Order: sequence, then structure tokens, then C-alpha cells
Amino acid sequence: MKFVAFNGSPSGTESATNRIITAFLAGASRAGAETKVYQLADYQIEQCKGCFTCWFQTPGTCVFHDDMEQLLRAYQSADVVCFGSPVFSWNMTALLKNFVDRLIPLKSPIIAQQEERFDLEDTVRREQKYVAISNCGFPGENNFSVIQEAFSCCNPCLEIYRNCGKLLRSKQESVQGIVSKYLSVVEQAGGELASVGTVCEETKNNLSMPMLSTPEYLRFLGMA
Ligand SMILES: Cc1cc2nc3c(=O)[nH]c(=O)nc-3n(C[C@H](O)[C@H](O)[C@H](O)COP(=O)(O)O)c2cc1C
Repeated sequence: MKFVAFNGSPSGTESATNRIITAFLAGASRAGAETKVYQLADYQIEQCKGCFTCWFQTPGTCVFHDDMEQLLRAYQSADVVCFGSPVFSWNMTALLKNFVDRLIPLKSPIIAQQEERFDLEDTVRREQKYVAISNCGFPGENNFSVIQEAFSCCNPCLEIYRNCGKLLRSKQESVQGIVSKYLSVVEQAGGELASVGTVCEETKNNLSMPMLSTPEYLRFLGMA
């Protein structure tokens, strides 16, 4: 089984998002999965210009011959795709959004309807699973509502939404214990998904564990 993660944080390997991805993939790897993470900030990805050449003139092939060719191959090779992004302005970053837009050569110009939802059919039916990973700087869960809605179309088998995300990049001794405890739950989730194909409710609930109370977090940020 192969887990492939795409991190849309501009901070790449230094990002809080990457700390979550790394823990998640470590758990998957320990359970025997092959893992790979792509830092989208390191790749040249032109912006989709919406020409639909990849549908109607050269089906499956984009007009741009950039690093997306390699990333599309990686995407297609995955059994589990992890989309990672911090929350920027209540949404995924432009880096991840552009990457997702550039997946359109894998979609066909055929609309699939499921109840009130409409999406495009894949050109090649895939049995992939999807995981959404995000962190945000504020306390509160509402910051993830746009990302959650955006990824609902791929019916993710797991969503990891970490508020108070600034803690993940902190070197302060006082928060290391709670950050490690949180990351060990993330690792557990990766292990479960790789070994039994699903993550149990208890682990999912633990992923939402508070790391600090809101007043403590605001003091930690120096923004109280
Ligand atoms: C341009 C910009 C917009 C942001 N918008 C939000 C936001 O809407 N809500 C929020 O909670 N945090 C917001 N943040 C804070 C980031 O989500 C936070 O710093 C996060 O931990 C960065 O993650 P990373 O290290 O993975 O890049 C924003 C940060 C930037 C730079």
C-alpha cells in the first residue's frame, strides 16, 4: 500500500502541516506502507488557465509541461492520497488549490450526480482513499469549514484538522509534552489506516483533543 502526501504549506518541510503529515506517514510506514511526501512549494506548477484542452483536444494531457507531470504520476500511483494545507484566509492555500485544479486532466467531461451533489467522473476509476490534513493559527473549529466542504467531494476517509497550530512549530519546552502526545495520536491514525484500512472512532476523537485552553493559547501567542 502506498501513501502519497501533497503539502500545500509555503513553509514546506518547516511547516506545522508537515509535522502532522510526517507523524501520519511514520505511523503508516511502521505498519508496512510505502510513503512519500511532496512539498508543493518546491515544484513549478503553472496555474490552470481553464482552457479544457486536457479534455477536448489532448484528453488527459495538459497544455503545460511542468512539474505537474511528475506530481500527477505520483498522485495516480497512490492508494492513499493525503492533501495537506494550513488554513489561509479560511481556506486551503493557493498552492494546494492550484495543485487540485491541475488534477483536472484526470477528470472527464462527464457530470456525475449523487443526490444533490455534482462532480466530474474520473477518466480511470480509482480505488484511492483520501485524507485531508490541515492546521490553523486560531483556536476554534470553524476555521476548517471551507476546507471541509471543498474536500467533501472526494469523501475523505479521514480528516485531521488541528487548531492552535502554532504550537506545532514551537520550540518552547512547556508545550512539547502536549504536542508529542497529539502527534502520537496522528501516528496511530496513520498506522490504523495502513494496517486495517480504517481509523477507529476513538482515534478520530482523540485527533480533536484540545492542546491548550483558548486563554492559555492566546497567552502562548502573546496575543491575549
Ligand atoms: C496569509 C495567511 C492567512 C491566514 N489565515 C488564517 C485563517 O483564516 N484562520 C486561521 O486560523 N489561521 C490563519 N492563518 C494562520 C496559519 O493557519 C497558521 O500560521 C498555520 O499554523 C501555518 O501552518 P504551516 O506552518 O503549516 O504553514 C493565516 C496565515 C497566513 C500567513
